Amino acid sequence: MQKMETEDKIYEDNAKNAFNKVSTFAEYDEVHNHYKNTAETYDKMTASLNYNGPKDLLKELFEVGMKCDWKILDVAAGTGILGRELQLNGCFNIDALDCCQQMLDKAKEKNIYRELICSKVGDGAVLPIGSNTYDAVVMSGAFFPEHLQTDSYLELTRIVKSGGLIGNIHRKSILKHPNYLGLSNFIKSYEEENIWRLIKEKVTKNYYNGVDGMLQVFKIL
Ligand SMILES: C[S@@+](CC[C@H](N)C(=O)[O-])C[C@H]1O[C@@H](n2cnc3c(N)ncnc32)[C@H](O)[C@@H]1O
Repeated sequence: MQKMETEDKIYEDNAKNAFNKVSTFAEYDEVHNHYKNTAETYDKMTASLNYNGPKDLLKELFEVGMKCDWKILDVAAGTGILGRELQLNGCFNIDALDCCQQMLDKAKEKNIYRELICSKVGDGAVLPIGSNTYDAVVMSGAFFPEHLQTDSYLELTRIVKSGGLIGNIHRKSILKHPNYLGLSNFIKSYEEENIWRLIKEKVTKNYYNGVDGMLQVFKIL
């Protein structure tokens, strides 16, 4: 019993250190290497953090009309924590996308996703996905320094059908990071161009371990 508690404490400390470390990355390559090297222990570390983001996001998405028979893409899916929640809610038509093959390999072991797509989002990358393919794109923990940035919405809005949804939850504080300073203007400009409507925006308590989260849901027009 005591050994287990000690191990849990080690994972919790490692997770906090990993999160602090990831926040300091200034280059995408550092992010990529980090996940490559921590894919094996990611789930255990995250479990020690009381990570509520995925559940909170799905609750809001179902409230605004997401259905379980929809074709859903989990973007920055990692090892499949959000996908697992979707599956527990009865959603089975789900694909995963992430730029780190090692994270996707861990997700594959869980038999959650139909397709696993290894691709970077943002920086001008064109996703290997046709336009209007998905009913919903969901993301948890995708917005983080040098992870997905505002420009990721250029491609994500292309692959979601009209009437579909994009739901995103992340730590609230990262919005102060230079990566996201243009986000609210970008959201407004897409509303003005009738590409989407921001239909839900909410600060969530306890995204993980008492840290505030920010949740946004967009309806594609
Ligand atoms: C904090 S993890 C979140 C994983 C999962 N969604 C969760 O909630 O546990 C961030 C994930 O984003 C992926 N990622 C980071 N930048 C990316 C990018 N530009 N394009 C695609 N995936 C990216 C990483 O490989 C990693 O798996």
